Amino acid sequence: MSDAFTREPLWDPRRFPPAAGAPRAVQTTRMLLDPQGYARSLRRRFGPVFSLRAYPYRGALVCAADAAANRAVLTDHERFTGGDAAALLAPAVGAGSLICTPPPLHLGRRKLLLPPFHGARIACWTERVRDMVHAGLPDLLSGDGVPVRPWAQRLTLDVILRVVFGLTDPGRAAAFRHALNAFVGTGNLAVLFLPGPMRRDLGPLSPGGRFHRLRAAVRELTREEIAARRAAPDRARRHDVLSMLLDARDEYGAGLDDAQLLDELTGLVLAGYETTATTIAWTLHLLAHHPAVRDDLIADLDAGSDRLLKATVKESGRLRPAVYNAMRTAAQDTELGGHPVPRHAFVAALFPLTHLDPELWPRPDDFRPERHLGTDPAPYSLTPFGGGVRRCIGVSLAQLEIETVLREILAAAVPEPAGPLEPARLVAVTLVPARGGRVRLRERRP
Ligand code: HEM
Repeated sequence: MSDAFTREPLWDPRRFPPAAGAPRAVQTTRMLLDPQGYARSLRRRFGPVFSLRAYPYRGALVCAADAAANRAVLTDHERFTGGDAAALLAPAVGAGSLICTPPPLHLGRRKLLLPPFHGARIACWTERVRDMVHAGLPDLLSGDGVPVRPWAQRLTLDVILRVVFGLTDPGRAAAFRHALNAFVGTGNLAVLFLPGPMRRDLGPLSPGGRFHRLRAAVRELTREEIAARRAAPDRARRHDVLSMLLDARDEYGAGLDDAQLLDELTGLVLAGYETTATTIAWTLHLLAHHPAVRDDLIADLDAGSDRLLKATVKESGRLRPAVYNAMRTAAQDTELGGHPVPRHAFVAALFPLTHLDPELWPRPDDFRPERHLGTDPAPYSLTPFGGGVRRCIGVSLAQLEIETVLREILAAAVPEPAGPLEPARLVAVTLVPARGGRVRLRERRP
């Protein structure tokens, strides 16, 4: 158990926002089966700040579900701090990664990591990403009613291997793909949410043993890649993230050592691969189920505009954000929305609910990209990438990937439903379409 979990205060209804009375096991199950619906029922009952008594929290997870509470959790860094709150993910991403780094170290580390992810730097990958989407298109178009998510996972993994790791050798890329897919893409990370003893390495057949073996394989490959790049004569001319991070220095001239790089690279893969693939799957799935929206978007793209494209990506991130929440811990005894919050409690900016607040978003359940045209959302009403000093650093890369996929697919085919609109399921911290986001792609004739 990490420090964050041992420090967590036990449940006391006088010290936490209101919670349902159902046992933890029942609340956990309801949350897993219907993450948006169950949280929404709690919000209706208790208002925008409430407690969720669910595993793995011994006390409760304090949930913030309107723009004011969302802003407080994401931006009031004196009261709500990040890093420790990601303790659950530390065995996967590495305790030294940015995601798990608390203040005051976090800000300096973030400054080192940000430059390679800047929009202008990422833009130089546009052609390469387009080529990768093109190469994958036949697989998607050939199926009749295919789940988009596994296809998009393969693509986003390849993009990360190329853009972040700078891998060009097909043999090494294949080895990485295989190891990462086994580690992340097969439900292996669910181990992190098992009770403590079940996470331990109890031999090769135990879930904990499997987790550690797969993790070791990924880290060994990453270590080799760092060593190879350190020795590469052409490093200064390369644009991949790893090459730039090897030369990054803070104001005291210090850079990242190999152990830090290893954790950062693992963290970047885990943060950037499933999230982007899930957003791609939701967007195509939603378009297939909203033919009028889809046809308007295709017409707009055909006319050379990207106005509706950007609005569609925003709307998909509103209605079905890939990440379920942004986590913090309370740095002091405090309050949120008029309710007490004890020091060290886990606090979640539960933006999938804020995104459905009818006061912020009229007819919140409708998929209507045009609501974003010519207007900016009210502050902290739309935060699929989190916010404040911990906002996602991969936004530009994710947007480049999502927009390129949509442009290329919609130029070649029209997504149509291949079954009912899928509900969301919670897998680790990602809200995924229950059956992978199935669509049927009808090829467009010239
Ligand atoms: C559609 C795709 C993505 C979504 C929805 C997403 C969402 C998020 C969210 C909600 C957070 C937490 C922010 C907070 O705590 O306030 C986050 C953090 C982060 N994301 Fe992303 N992300 C995506 C893609 C990526 C990509 C492509 C990368 C990099 C390759 C990336 C790297 C990170 C990192 C390193 C953090 C931690 C930032 C920090 O703690 O300072 N993400 N992301």
